[in-house]
Amino acid sequence: MSTNEKRDYSCISLDSPIYRPDAFSRLDESDDAVFYQKDRFVSHLDETALQTVKHVIGSLVIESEPVILDLMAGWDSHIPDSINLKRLVALGLNQKELEANADATETVIYDLNKVPALPFPDDIFDAVVCTVSVDYMTQPLDVFKEVQRILKPGGVFIVIFSNRIFPEKAVKIWKESDENERSILVQEFFDVAGGFERPREFVSMGRPRPKDDKYVMTGIASDPVYAVFAEKQGGDPCRPRRKVLPLGYGEKISKEEMEIRKKRIKDTLQCPHCGESMKKWKVPENPFCYTWDNEFMYICFNDECPYYVKGWEHMYSQGNRGVSYRLMYNPEKDLCSPIPVPSPRALRDGIIVDNVAL
Ligand SMILES: C[S@@+](CC[C@H](N)C(=O)[O-])C[C@H]1O[C@@H](n2cnc3c(N)ncnc32)[C@H](O)[C@@H]1O
Repeated sequence: MSTNEKRDYSCISLDSPIYRPDAFSRLDESDDAVFYQKDRFVSHLDETALQTVKHVIGSLVIESEPVILDLMAGWDSHIPDSINLKRLVALGLNQKELEANADATETVIYDLNKVPALPFPDDIFDAVVCTVSVDYMTQPLDVFKEVQRILKPGGVFIVIFSNRIFPEKAVKIWKESDENERSILVQEFFDVAGGFERPREFVSMGRPRPKDDKYVMTGIASDPVYAVFAEKQGGDPCRPRRKVLPLGYGEKISKEEMEIRKKRIKDTLQCPHCGESMKKWKVPENPFCYTWDNEFMYICFNDECPYYVKGWEHMYSQGNRGVSYRLMYNPEKDLCSPIPVPSPRALRDGIIVDNVAL
């Protein structure tokens, strides 16, 4: 959406549950400062999910030396090593936890349920993150408005949550919502607060727990990770688009692992670079393809596949502008090779679904 367009809020009805008088009431209405006086040096998610949280923050914070606010922070802000922080302000309620936060360059003890007006000037943060805590906000609309005020134009507010809560302090509407509804709820906070671009969502669920997790024997999947994020309106229209890269993107795959994956293609038909299923593709009848004597190949059409993504840069460095390549698998010869593509759309006409050409 362009920054000049007016947003249409007609979809947000005043019947929405967020306008119910008790929507943000809690079982324990006592002072938050007292509840959070007790240090909780615990992990609120399992290790797989924590890595996903880092991955989300690492993908969405694209500034080279960002100024970040961790809103409702504890002892860990989940900042990946790839982020070269200029400044990280950790705002929360427990002094010892904040002091132990290795990423924080500043700490602020502040109760945003008492006073949602945040103690910062306008337009100073590149990113504000709020991890597994939005469910404790009793005045989220005011807080989201404040976050919009203190973000730089084009800066991003990343709200990450899962399915665990302190039931006595979580607000009623959160507890009464299922996981999908919670995501819609957070999107509604963005919309009603105003001044943000359209919120987008990332979801990771069903991933295996780490082998040393104490619950691994139960077979329960890793904690789900939801992220709803939106940029403040008014950013440079030519700025790079923020997006959560697929999990595993950028992971270094060892030569041995790559060989194992390539040997398995025959059975799995999965791209060894990104793990996506390759698509059956009809070899076209043109002079460039005469040397391929089989009728079908398999090609990875995942636009996020690192092989294809890096291909643009690799070809460019060799003087071939505007070309990348996709991974092609020849089932007759059990061989992988690159096939050049001038655009993401290229070759897609030959994709076969259920033996029918698209
Ligand atoms: C579940 S912990 C999450 C901590 C941290 N964000 C993380 O990812 O590990 C909830 C945090 O919210 C903070 N918090 C709760 N109520 C708050 C309030 N009214 N004002 C500011 N911070 C609050 C607490 O200090 C606590 O650290």
